[in-house]
Amino acid sequence: MKKLLILTVLLLSGTALLAQRPRPTADLPKWEGVCETPQMGWSSWNKFMTDINEDIIKAHADALVELGLADVGYVYINVDDGWHGERDENGFVTEDPEKFPSGMRALGQYIHSKGLKFGIYSDAGDFTCNGCTGSRGHEYQDALIYAMWEVDYLKYDWCHTSNLDAKGAYTLMRNALRKAGRPTVFSICEWGTSKPWEWAENVGHSWRTTHDIGPAFLEVPVSYTPEGRRNWKPQSVMEIIEQNAPLREHAGPGHWNDPDMLEVGNVITVDGITYSMTPSEERAHFTMWCMMAAPLILGNDLRSISQETLDIIKNRALIAVDQDPLGIQGLRLKKEGDLQYWFKPLKDGDWAFCVLNAGEAAAKLTLDWKDLEVDDTFSGRKTDFAGTTYMAQDLWKAKAKPFSTARKTKVTVPAHDVVVYRLTPVRH
Ligand code: GAL
Repeated sequence: MKKLLILTVLLLSGTALLAQRPRPTADLPKWEGVCETPQMGWSSWNKFMTDINEDIIKAHADALVELGLADVGYVYINVDDGWHGERDENGFVTEDPEKFPSGMRALGQYIHSKGLKFGIYSDAGDFTCNGCTGSRGHEYQDALIYAMWEVDYLKYDWCHTSNLDAKGAYTLMRNALRKAGRPTVFSICEWGTSKPWEWAENVGHSWRTTHDIGPAFLEVPVSYTPEGRRNWKPQSVMEIIEQNAPLREHAGPGHWNDPDMLEVGNVITVDGITYSMTPSEERAHFTMWCMMAAPLILGNDLRSISQETLDIIKNRALIAVDQDPLGIQGLRLKKEGDLQYWFKPLKDGDWAFCVLNAGEAAAKLTLDWKDLEVDDTFSGRKTDFAGTTYMAQDLWKAKAKPFSTARKTKVTVPAHDVVVYRLTPVRH
């Protein structure tokens, strides 16, 4: 009896002690339903790097609408590195008063008044990659401020994080964004170093799978150095495809592999050297991002865009491939020298099919469809060229008549370019 009494007293006092101890903040789920197809928009980084201000951002919000880009799905205006000012006396982050004199809240209101969404950038470490204020130790405060500014999208970088654990740091910000109460797309940007595809499905909506992209198809010829960085050598389109291709089984609605932003139409000059791609290379780049169900975040100067670039990024038929509701990243069936054969399962039994030519010479091919049969165990989808006829629509030539896969098809794939078709089964 005495023993029972002691045990009861111990248990009760233990419970009381537990009740007094501050509880660790519980994990909260990521925002659901905000990124069911890969995100589309524009970001300041690829063209402007840290040379940004509110006039540039507002002009790009205007352009997204005026050029009809918002109508085809580009809705996020993302302010990348270079906007932060100091923290105030209570630890709340502020904007750089010279670059953003009207403040981020007013900028967000402007973007929203255009029917667009507002994206912002921060870093899990003490500083951003270009030395601005990072979020480390201020995650909940920062998420709260973003919610007050009506931010819809956070890209969260990984510079100056010393001994931080990536999963822990990104989970902390996920919790903070949820707690702040405003549905927000959370874009993880740690360049694939901790294999986020293995842990981030319930943490963010996309994760970078590679280091930074540059406007080059095969290789960025020399390293270039934005403010505060030394010997920074971005990666080319072809290098990135190589790294992103094997990760397809990790992507799906609400959690995407992110092979970095688009370089279509981007021309930059650093240290007297100009970097850009040819129209063929840009078509190939855009097509492959759509085949890989990648986020489509423009990175060019929209104020001086050419008709040619506009025609590429507004290709509705390809955007439909990227945004297909099944959300299945395309698969590479085979590589033959400089040629790659890609398939992407689409809704209603359709497929996107693409041949990518990384070579310096045009490739003249005769496609024998029965040799291109796909059995995709990941999606459970199979082509049936032997038993079914598909009608093939050229996605770069909207006016071309669809042709049948019942016969062999002769095609020419120009150098550094693609041919891409939507295959629709003929139902009898
Ligand atoms: C990199 C990131 C880029 C850009 C840049 C800003 O780490 O990958 O996309 O955000 O930082 O400094």
